[in-house]
Amino acid sequence: MYNLLKGKRGIIFGALDENSIAWKTAERVHEEGGVFVLSNAPASIRMGSIDALGKKTGAQIIAADATSVADLENLVDQAMDILGGKIDFVLHSIGMSINVRKGNHYTNQNYEYTEKGWNISAVSFHKVMQVLYKKDAMNEWGSIVALSYMAAQRVFPDYNDMADNKAYLESIARSFGYFFGRDKKVRVNTISQSPTATKAGQGVKGFDGFIAFADKMAPLGNASAVDCANYTVSMFSDLTKMVTLQNLLHDGGFSNMGVSQEVMEMFE
Ligand SMILES: NC(=O)c1ccc[n+]([C@@H]2O[C@H](COP(=O)([O-])OP(=O)(O)OC[C@H]3O[C@@H](n4cnc5c(N)ncnc54)[C@H](O)[C@@H]3O)[C@@H](O)[C@H]2O)c1
Repeated sequence: MYNLLKGKRGIIFGALDENSIAWKTAERVHEEGGVFVLSNAPASIRMGSIDALGKKTGAQIIAADATSVADLENLVDQAMDILGGKIDFVLHSIGMSINVRKGNHYTNQNYEYTEKGWNISAVSFHKVMQVLYKKDAMNEWGSIVALSYMAAQRVFPDYNDMADNKAYLESIARSFGYFFGRDKKVRVNTISQSPTATKAGQGVKGFDGFIAFADKMAPLGNASAVDCANYTVSMFSDLTKMVTLQNLLHDGGFSNMGVSQEVMEMFE
C-alpha cells in the first residue's frame, strides 16, 4: 500500500454487503490510511452487514436516509465530531429504482415510484453536497465522487428509469462541481463503472446478459468492484487534484467500442 490517503477524513455512503462497491472502497481507503464514517439508510443497516465492515475498518456507522436533509445535516456534524475536523473525501454510492424493483416497464412507469427513485439516486447527491457546502464542511482540495453508469449516455433498455437518474446525477456533478471548485477548491466527479454483480446491479432485468456482453466487448474486460475502489482511492488522493466536473469512464474500454471480434463471431 502507498499511504495515499494518510491524514484524510471522509464519509462513505452505500455499503450494504461485501459485494457493494462502497464496501470494497471502504476497505481500500482504510488500507491507504484514510479514516471515515460509514453511512446508509436505516433499513439497509438493519438488513445488510455493515457492522462487520465498521469493525474491520474502525469506522463508526451513522444512519441517514440520503433523501432527508435533516439526516444528512446530522451525519455531517457527527462525522466532523468523530473524525476531529473537516472532510476530505466523500463517496456517494447510492442508487435504487422502485419501478425496476416492482417490475414496471420503462413505458409503464408509476410516477410516484419514478420520483422516489430520482430523489434517492440523483437528487440525494445534490442534497449531500448542499449540506457539505452550507456547513463549509469540506477541506480545500477535497474530493467528492458519485457512481454512475453508461446508460446515462447510451440506451440499455432494461436499465429503465435509472438511465434518466444517472444522466441527472452526472449533470449535478458538473453544476455543483463548478461552485464547489470556485468557492472551496473541492473537486466533484462521477465514475461510470462497468456492470458489477451487487445487490443493485443484479436487480436490473437481464443483468447476466449485459454483464457478459460488456465483458466480451471491452478490450480489458469488465472493471470489478475492487478496480472501482482503487480508481476511487486515486480520485480521493492528492494525485488527481486538478480533475473536476468529469464523468470518468471506468469500464475496460467498453464505451469506445463499436464491436469486438468476440461479439462479431457470435453472429457469423
Ligand atoms: N452494480 C453495477 O452494475 C453498477 C454499475 C455502475 C454504477 N453502479 C452504481 O454504484 C452505486 C452503488 O451500487 P452497488 O452496485 O454497489 O449496489 P448496492 O446495492 O450494494 O448499493 C446501493 C446502496 O444504495 C443504498 N441506498 C438505497 N436507498 C438509500 C437511501 N434512501 N439513503 C441512503 N442509501 C440508500 C443501499 O442501502 C445500498 O447500500 C449505485 O449508485 C449504482 O447505481 C452500479
